[in-house]
Amino acid sequence: IVNVHADKDWYDNKTVKETDLSKGNLILVNKFNYLKNDFEPNEITDIDINYSYANNRTSKETNDAYIEMAKAAKKDNIILLVNSSYRTYERQEQIYKEFYYSKGISYADAYAARAGYSEHQTGLAIDIFTSGRSTTSDFEESDAFKWLSVNAHKYGFILRYPKDKEYLTGYNYESWHYRYLGIDTATKVYNSGLTYDEYYAYYLEK
Ligand code: DAL
Ligand code: ZN
Repeated sequence: IVNVHADKDWYDNKTVKETDLSKGNLILVNKFNYLKNDFEPNEITDIDINYSYANNRTSKETNDAYIEMAKAAKKDNIILLVNSSYRTYERQEQIYKEFYYSKGISYADAYAARAGYSEHQTGLAIDIFTSGRSTTSDFEESDAFKWLSVNAHKYGFILRYPKDKEYLTGYNYESWHYRYLGIDTATKVYNSGLTYDEYYAYYLEK
């Protein structure tokens, strides 16, 4: 808890800092590590609509890894579809505000990042759904989720907000939100059983 600063209030003024951009695909973005409003990933690519809802974009490396994963899933009769991916600072601000004004601050903070604090701004995060289930509420019950649970790391992705880890990640369980780290680190994080916030604090930060 102390290593990930979760003993502090989320977004604590004295603790928040711009994240270390030199970490590349391994950058940590959470409630204490932010991106400036003009941060944009390089090489943003459209995601093939065979594996995505329309108008989704992500970093080229994330896209390439995702397409490989979606093709492998298809061979196992699993349909993966990206529902949300790269978001600008302004788009994230809009999303957060929609939650904030309709549901209040606690709900908004449990489900959406404040602008500058979202992994979606990195171009390395994707929300994955499957056919016949276009909402997040029952994604956990799907075969697609079960497939991802044992295979995502082999393609470089981790489940970023696991169940019962809200006190470390700052977010409710999100069975649909995957973060690209590359195969090597994703496999290490998966085998460690740690959240990425912890893994980063222990092995990458220094
Ligand atoms: N739903 C995730 C936490 C985000 O808004 O980035
Ligand atoms: Zn997400």
